Amino acid sequence: MLMEQQVVVIGGSEGIGLAVARAARALGARVLAVGRTKAKLEAAREAVLGLEIHVADINDTASIKAVFAGLASVDHVYIAAGSTKIGGPLDHPLSDFRHRFDERLWGSLEVVRTAHPLMRPGGSFTFSGGLASDRPAKGAWVSGIATMATEQLARVLAIELAPLRFNAVAPGYTDTPMWNHIFPDLGSKALDEVTRKHLVPRLVTAEEVAQAVLLLMQNQAITGETIHVDCGARLV
Ligand SMILES: NC(=O)c1ccc[n+]([C@@H]2O[C@H](COP(=O)([O-])OP(=O)(O)OC[C@H]3O[C@@H](n4cnc5c(N)ncnc54)[C@H](OP(=O)(O)O)[C@@H]3O)[C@@H](O)[C@H]2O)c1
Repeated sequence: MLMEQQVVVIGGSEGIGLAVARAARALGARVLAVGRTKAKLEAAREAVLGLEIHVADINDTASIKAVFAGLASVDHVYIAAGSTKIGGPLDHPLSDFRHRFDERLWGSLEVVRTAHPLMRPGGSFTFSGGLASDRPAKGAWVSGIATMATEQLARVLAIELAPLRFNAVAPGYTDTPMWNHIFPDLGSKALDEVTRKHLVPRLVTAEEVAQAVLLLMQNQAITGETIHVDCGARLV
């Protein structure tokens, strides 16, 4: 249970972050969902009883500091926010891509730098890795590097800031609005096609990824770990 614990979800208005917010509320936590779009956060608050919301951008240090300035203490942080720019032509200027790495890696690190002094004993951070770390896909080289970087961030920070715990969850192809943001014309059929060859031949659900995040928040013996929730996609 997370009774009376303070959970912060950076990227909590939809997709996996919203599923984590809902599951943490169901376990009795106070949950603050953070995102850039006020309307999406308000819809999330309608959907999840008792959810608190705060507009902020993980790329904007001042806005992230404002999120935590309003909290007396924190128990668990899940960071879902990450770039939807998964790759692009390698002959484009690197400056076109740098921001995408900054967001996932330095953005996550900035959240940790801001929040860890507020953490109560037993506290944890969970980052977003991804299938692309182990199974890089052509055209998705940005994700392939950046998700691996956050998985490694969990391992190094687990050592740097022990006994606070740092972990990552690496989703496979998961049914969330992210895919519409990346490929507005793709349609769900194309994703079904990709997942048909996986050991469990379907998309992962946001709730299934959220279950892994909630496990990492609650199990005090797990740190420096990456949990894969991918329907066996890494093995085929
Ligand atoms: N879905 C998949 O198949 C899959 C697979 C592998 C890895 N992942 C990773 O898992 C994480 C969650 O994925 P998802 O599918 O749930 O994504 P999603 O449906 O696109 O949701 C992302 C959430 O993060 C917020 N957000 C995005 N950029 C932000 C920023 N700069 N600052 C603050 N909030 C921000 C979004 O709200 P606003 O846009 O309003 O800010 C939204 O609430 C991501 O890091 C993603 O890369 C997903």
